[in-house]
Amino acid sequence: MTTTLSPTSPDASVRAVVDLDVAGPTISRHLYGHFAEHLGRCIYDGFWVGEDSDIPNEGGIRLDVVEALRALRIPVLRWPGGCFADEYHWSDGIGPRDQRPRMVNTHWGNVEENNHFGTHEFMALCDLLGTEPYVSANIGSGSVQEMSEWVEYLTRAGDSPMARLRRENGRDEPWRVPFWGVGNEPWGCGGNLRAEQFAPLARQYATYARNHGDNALYKIAAGASDDDYHWTETLMKEISTLGAKDPHLVFQAVSFHAYTFSGTWGAKGRATEFSEDEYYETMRRTLRVGDYIAGHAAVMDAYDPEKKVGLVLDEWGTWWDVEPGTNPGFLFQQNAMRDAIVASLHFDMFHAHADRLVMANIAQTVNVLQAMLLTDGEALVLTPTYHVFEMNAGHQDATSHAAHLTSAVPTREVDGQAVPLVSLSASSKDGAVLVSLTNLDADAAHTVELDLRGRAVHEAQGRVLVADALTAHNTPDLPDAVAPVALEGVTLTGGVLRVELPAASFATVSLQAADA
Ligand code: AHR
Repeated sequence: MTTTLSPTSPDASVRAVVDLDVAGPTISRHLYGHFAEHLGRCIYDGFWVGEDSDIPNEGGIRLDVVEALRALRIPVLRWPGGCFADEYHWSDGIGPRDQRPRMVNTHWGNVEENNHFGTHEFMALCDLLGTEPYVSANIGSGSVQEMSEWVEYLTRAGDSPMARLRRENGRDEPWRVPFWGVGNEPWGCGGNLRAEQFAPLARQYATYARNHGDNALYKIAAGASDDDYHWTETLMKEISTLGAKDPHLVFQAVSFHAYTFSGTWGAKGRATEFSEDEYYETMRRTLRVGDYIAGHAAVMDAYDPEKKVGLVLDEWGTWWDVEPGTNPGFLFQQNAMRDAIVASLHFDMFHAHADRLVMANIAQTVNVLQAMLLTDGEALVLTPTYHVFEMNAGHQDATSHAAHLTSAVPTREVDGQAVPLVSLSASSKDGAVLVSLTNLDADAAHTVELDLRGRAVHEAQGRVLVADALTAHNTPDLPDAVAPVALEGVTLTGGVLRVELPAASFATVSLQAADA
């Protein structure tokens, strides 16, 4: 859609220049990763219904969930935890299901875990989704041998004890497992360790997570919470065997976790009942994640200026009080328009730090915390957050382009801090340009003008996610209360893209670009 508006109209709230011929870092597709834990109804009822279920399934895996997630092009799925990972003994989850030992999931709801969803089921799920597996090993209550044998079971071809066991359980060929997690929150549920205790332990475990055949593991050492830069520094000191005869990286990446809520850990706030002040506080705290990424990256730069080691945010998202009447250990929460804005802001921050941040996994995919999907018996609901992932999927593996502001961005003071009310990011891939824009302002529309330089662009198509309230959310009865629609207020004039963003909205504009 084009109009005769003159470029750089003075009434735009935000103006910026984007040089499409200047390539920033590639936005790794793994920044759009996911996390699924044996927690509440994420695995059981979420992904897994069992082969005897009336709900359509393939080998026990829910097909409506698979179909919905395939549209997101999930690049990586982290499993089995989380805190559960450090209580999980993988050999309980193989072999005939009716003979698998049971355990108590003491961390999450004290419920019995029947181990029906185990290694083979997880790998089948990854195959159905077309996603790469990220297996998180038990360091807290497991052993080096147990972890080492799991790697062998999954990835070794030929004749070996674990490869034979895998074959006895029906799988001849090894799987490809690229991502291997060494620990989870070792400072808390993963052992209550100090960084100085965990770092050498992680080195020991990582040593025995072997590369079998051509399956080269990308080992991720469990990292900090929020802004615990001391943890990252301690890991970075231990990251390589520098000084040894054969210097090499022991881990390829270090991780950290950062959750967002508006209250305290004890009373985090409700997912669908909150004031405007709580909304803005949520936005202020969301934007701190960008500071955390920059802080960890700065520590890493001092030890690894060539950026050989990746930073992984392997758990992120909103964490609200559970929905009334649900098991407090199941972390089931609704997902509102506010969550969608939290997600889109995270992606802008991820894109801005794509030089160091190589993976980010939202917690969690189905029925837990900031989920993509909510299930209720046969019903399946796509959340507002799902739509952000879908609308942003074109950024995966695209080249980022910085937006250089040529105007001030409107702000709102929240707890003594100026919170910018508009956020955006841009990328290009295979002749397609994708611009993502978020208007955080709960009350006012804002107009953004982007001077797209360096490549001729045409065919601007906008989509917008907006609702009649920040608390709006989707339910089985009202599944499309928050769903993307075409954005009318998009014009392209002489390379200047003008986008009118409704209050509290997330929009994407896709364009076609001529060759550079
Ligand atoms: O995602 C829920 C929990 O949050 C995870 O199990 C744990 O790693 C984190 O504290």
